[in-house]
Amino acid sequence: MERERTFHTPTDYQQAMLHAWAQYATLKGGENASYIPYLAQVPAHLCAVAIVTVDGEVFSTGDADYRFALESISKVCTLALALEDVGANDVQEKIGADPTGLPFNSVIALELHQGKPLSPLVNAGAMSAVSLINARDSEHRWARILNMQQRLAGAAVTLSDEVNRSEQTTNFHNRAIAWLLYSAGTLYCDAMEACEVYTRQCSTLVNTVELATLGATLAAAGVNPRTKEQVLSAANTPFILAEMTMEGMYGSSGDWAYTVGLPAKSGVGGGIVAVVPGVMGIAAFSPPLDAAGNSVRGQKLVASIAHQLGHNLYRCG
Ligand code: DON
Repeated sequence: MERERTFHTPTDYQQAMLHAWAQYATLKGGENASYIPYLAQVPAHLCAVAIVTVDGEVFSTGDADYRFALESISKVCTLALALEDVGANDVQEKIGADPTGLPFNSVIALELHQGKPLSPLVNAGAMSAVSLINARDSEHRWARILNMQQRLAGAAVTLSDEVNRSEQTTNFHNRAIAWLLYSAGTLYCDAMEACEVYTRQCSTLVNTVELATLGATLAAAGVNPRTKEQVLSAANTPFILAEMTMEGMYGSSGDWAYTVGLPAKSGVGGGIVAVVPGVMGIAAFSPPLDAAGNSVRGQKLVASIAHQLGHNLYRCG
C-alpha cells in the first residue's frame, strides 16, 4: 500500500504552530534541571517553538532567538559523525541500538551489559561515540564535533564558557562512567578526553530555529534545507532516526512513540526536536522538565503540531 503523503500550505503550518502555542505556552508544571548549576537559573518562563520544512521554510514564535544549552541533543550530532567515520555496523556493534530501560546516566545499565552502552543517546554511549570518531587529539576531536553541530543547525553554534565551566566542574558521575567504559574496553580514546569533549559538546548554545533546522536536515536525508549542504550521507539518517525512536526521550521514549509516533531527542536544557521524515523538523524550548528529563511544555507543543498536521510514522491512513 502506498503511503498517502499529506501536503500542507504555509498557512497550515503557521496555524498549527499558533494553535499549539495558544494551548501550551503557559502550561504549568516541571522544574529546571538542578544538577547542573547553570541550568537551574535559566528563566523558567522562556518558551519557543519552531518548524523548519525540508524546503527551508521557517515558522517560529515565542523566544525563538534565545540561545539555550544543547545538552543531550548534542548526542545526535556526534552519532552522525560516528556513523560517517566508522559506519553503521561498528556503531551498532560497539555502542548499540536498544533502549537501556534505565536513566540516561545509569551505571547499572553498563554493569548489566558488560560495559556495552546499548544506545549512543545515553551518556555512556555518547562518550563512546565521542571516542570512536577519527581525531588526532582532543582539540581535533572537539573541532570536528562542533563543526558537525554547526553544519546540522546551519548556524555558528558556539561553546558557552559559562555552561561548560558549570558542567566540567560538576561532571563527576560522567567521569566515573567514562572510567567504567574504559575498563570494559568500550571506550576508544583516553577516558578523561572522551568525558571532557562530551561535556563540551553538551555546553554549546542554539536557538529554537537552529534546533528545528537540525531536525529538518535529518528529515531531508542529510541535506540542510537552509544552507543546502549535504551534511551527512542519506544512507546514515535512518540509523539516527531509529536510535532517536529507541532512546531519544529518555525513559519516556516508548510512551512518546506510542502517543506521538515521531523520532525525537530532548535535552535537559529544555530543548526538544522531532523529525517528520521527508517533511520537517519541529523544535521547542522551555526549561521546566518532567521526572524523565523532558521539557513539559516542549513535549506538548511538538506533539500538538505533529498531531494537527496528521504526522505519525505509524499511521497508515
Ligand atoms: O551529561 C549530562 O548529564 C548533561 N551534560 C547532559 C545530559 C542531558 O541532556 C541528558 N542526557 N541524556
